[in-house]
Amino acid sequence: MFDESKINSIREEYPILKREIEGRPLVYLDTAATAQAPKCVVNAIEDMYFNHRANVHRGVHTLSQEATDMVEATREKVRAFINAASTEEIIFTRGTTEAINLVAATYGDRLCNGDEIILTTMEHHSNIVPWQLIGKEKRIRIRVVPINDAGEVNLEEYEDLFTEQTRFVALAHVSNVLGTINPVKEMIAIAHKHGVPVLVDGAQAAPHIAVDVRDLDCDFYAFSAHKMYGPTGVGVLYGKKYRLNTMSPYQGGGEMISTVSFKSTTYADLPFKFEAGTPDYVGIAAFSAALDYINDLGIENIAAHEHALVEEATRQLLTIDGMHIYGTAAHKAGVISFLVRDINSYDMGLLLDKLGFAVRTGHHCAQPLMARYGVQGMVRASFGVYNTFDEVSRFVEAVRRVASMF
Ligand code: ALA
Repeated sequence: MFDESKINSIREEYPILKREIEGRPLVYLDTAATAQAPKCVVNAIEDMYFNHRANVHRGVHTLSQEATDMVEATREKVRAFINAASTEEIIFTRGTTEAINLVAATYGDRLCNGDEIILTTMEHHSNIVPWQLIGKEKRIRIRVVPINDAGEVNLEEYEDLFTEQTRFVALAHVSNVLGTINPVKEMIAIAHKHGVPVLVDGAQAAPHIAVDVRDLDCDFYAFSAHKMYGPTGVGVLYGKKYRLNTMSPYQGGGEMISTVSFKSTTYADLPFKFEAGTPDYVGIAAFSAALDYINDLGIENIAAHEHALVEEATRQLLTIDGMHIYGTAAHKAGVISFLVRDINSYDMGLLLDKLGFAVRTGHHCAQPLMARYGVQGMVRASFGVYNTFDEVSRFVEAVRRVASMF
């Protein structure tokens, strides 16, 4: 856990937290959408542009070597962060969405009419639509794991969905709306018992809890740098080497080839086979700084701090008349979604913004989940390493005040 002086020194690293909105101090409670970036991450971008900018893997000159070494050192840092077996299993993408699309398009090309994929009710659209895109032409059936009112899956109901036709499972590690930490290790073991590979959408997990892909035994794991105090435009796909080796390239271009002629092309080895074109090497340098930042603070300390904030916010929010919190799972990460009586989430969000509080409103890219709870949208407060207990109390009083206006 961080004490007050540690939080104060953490906050000094984020100039944006000194901003005012409508004349009031900004309270940023939208970290699940995008975390703010500390100075070390922005400095890494500036350093890259001013001192090392050159394309990677393409030149013998010093600058190109430096950029290449930095990208490959970051790949190793990512490998260690999630405990993958090899850097060949770490593919840089533009984000979680691209990572999932890559798997859907390239692993999915072996799926046939009548095959089935299992997803959960709480998936983000980015772990639904890519599967529908491949399923459209091939008539692939999507089967959906139900959840209880608390926002938890039941492992027996999940296992009941497996049939002879089940070919793939894709599920969120942590729900972006409910905060539920799914029992992914158990869910992966069940899928493997049925001979089915699993992709885990880790966008909301990697910034908040320790991830060990070998312990989970997942086949694929996807996450984004911008939710981890890093830059936008960089993400990671982890894939087991033997799985990735059976998949065709996602995009064609420079970097992903071994030889090219007008007759035929052979592809580069992993991970480059899946990295066509110039990567966002500036973003990757900034991601490297973000990983150092998280490692220095300690992911367990970050998790403990956010957990304490969520617990305190839940306790205080429940003192408001008509408060309904969606997602009360026993294992929960740093988000709280709620509605007060029948107050529209956008109205609540707009008025909170006028008071300086940045929250997300609406369907949160999870319309099937909204349908499960019979609502159009929710208000979501999500926490990061820089949030304080004082902000939590001020937020709850602001929600109470806004609710009293309706
Ligand atoms: N997936 C992000 C969120 O939940 C954008 O807000």
